[in-house]
Amino acid sequence: MPLDNYLTLGRSGLRVSPFALGAMTFGEDPGAAGTSVEESERILATYLDRGGNFVDTANFYTNGHSEKILGDFFGRSPGRRQRVVLASKFFTNLYPGDPNGGGAGRSAIIAQLHESLRRLQTDYLDVYWLHNWDRHTPIEETMRALDDLVRAGSVRYIGFSNTPAWVTAQAQTMALLRGWTPLIALQVEYSLLARTVEGELAPLAADQGMALVPWSPLKNGFLSGKYRRGGEVSDSARAAYVGGPSDDQFTVIETVDAIADELETSSAAVSLAWLRGRPGTVVPIIGARRLTHLEANLAGLEVELTPEQCDRLDRVSAPALNYPADLNGAMRATLQFAGTTVDGQPSGIYPPLLAGAVRY
Ligand SMILES: NC(=O)c1ccc[n+]([C@@H]2O[C@H](COP(=O)([O-])OP(=O)(O)OC[C@H]3O[C@@H](n4cnc5c(N)ncnc54)[C@H](OP(=O)(O)O)[C@@H]3O)[C@@H](O)[C@H]2O)c1
Repeated sequence: MPLDNYLTLGRSGLRVSPFALGAMTFGEDPGAAGTSVEESERILATYLDRGGNFVDTANFYTNGHSEKILGDFFGRSPGRRQRVVLASKFFTNLYPGDPNGGGAGRSAIIAQLHESLRRLQTDYLDVYWLHNWDRHTPIEETMRALDDLVRAGSVRYIGFSNTPAWVTAQAQTMALLRGWTPLIALQVEYSLLARTVEGELAPLAADQGMALVPWSPLKNGFLSGKYRRGGEVSDSARAAYVGGPSDDQFTVIETVDAIADELETSSAAVSLAWLRGRPGTVVPIIGARRLTHLEANLAGLEVELTPEQCDRLDRVSAPALNYPADLNGAMRATLQFAGTTVDGQPSGIYPPLLAGAVRY
């Protein structure tokens, strides 16, 4: 699947490329594990030239430099910005000492949006993400403020990131019942090394027609192929911040590496191919600190895993989900369907029911 084979993002009219490009690595500012302006622009230009159209940033990435790099790039290429689905996020406070500098209250959202638009040299965002749940602001205030921004034309679509499923469901139901702008996508941590999203948020997204937009699809590069058990990783800026994989994570990584060898491709490509093949609309945000990373990661669009390879990856990376996930899996089908097949799903029979024919 080439990068210009577009997908509809959730229940919306917005078409995006199958991989988004993350701009969290754009800029070499303190505390970031990023790259130079020149390399950022090479990465961005290559992605766009291949047909990519979905670019993700946030107000606080590299202290605002990420948005500025994007704004300077698009500012020099009039007409190009309109062809791009530009997404940014609000929540993180850039102003120490100001309690209203971040979060998801009405004033804070409006102020953060104005600053993002200034840095990005544009007058609208295609997607505006709540970056984190703001438990100190009523969710109706956040949703109503976002709806106002959509009606005013400065935001086109909205989505949530890193927000509990129950809050997301509450927000979505409220928006739909009140005729406010609904959420079309959820930006979630999702990779072969981070699958707990499958417990609550992924089923919610499927039910509500929301796309899943995974961040850190290579788990900070752990799934790129450059981390080997017992070896030192070379050429990583991120490793200084995130350390290295655990023993359990290496078990998954080694399965990915073996499948990459079988397919004569990279571990990054295998990991991303697995992710984009998950149920529903799944649009991973690929991260790159070098142009070579982008090239290797885009190869994930060409890799086709066999059912057997998918099964191996599914099993080795199976997540431990929180209660009540277990009760809603195979056991639920057994208790509910009593040996029949419903909607293509077979079920077992609860053994005591087979032990005797008497019912009361
Ligand atoms: N909503 C959120 O809370 C949230 C959180 C995080 C990220 N995001 C979004 O998701 C995007 C992607 O996240 P991410 O950067 O964490 O993705 P990632 O792919 O998990 O990690 C990217 C890093 O891994 C290494 N890497 C990637 N591909 C490689 C390759 N082919 N070969 C060798 N090393 C490779 C590079 O770091 P080194 O070279 O330094 O090792 C690169 O900077 C971000 O840009 C941002 O837009 C959102």
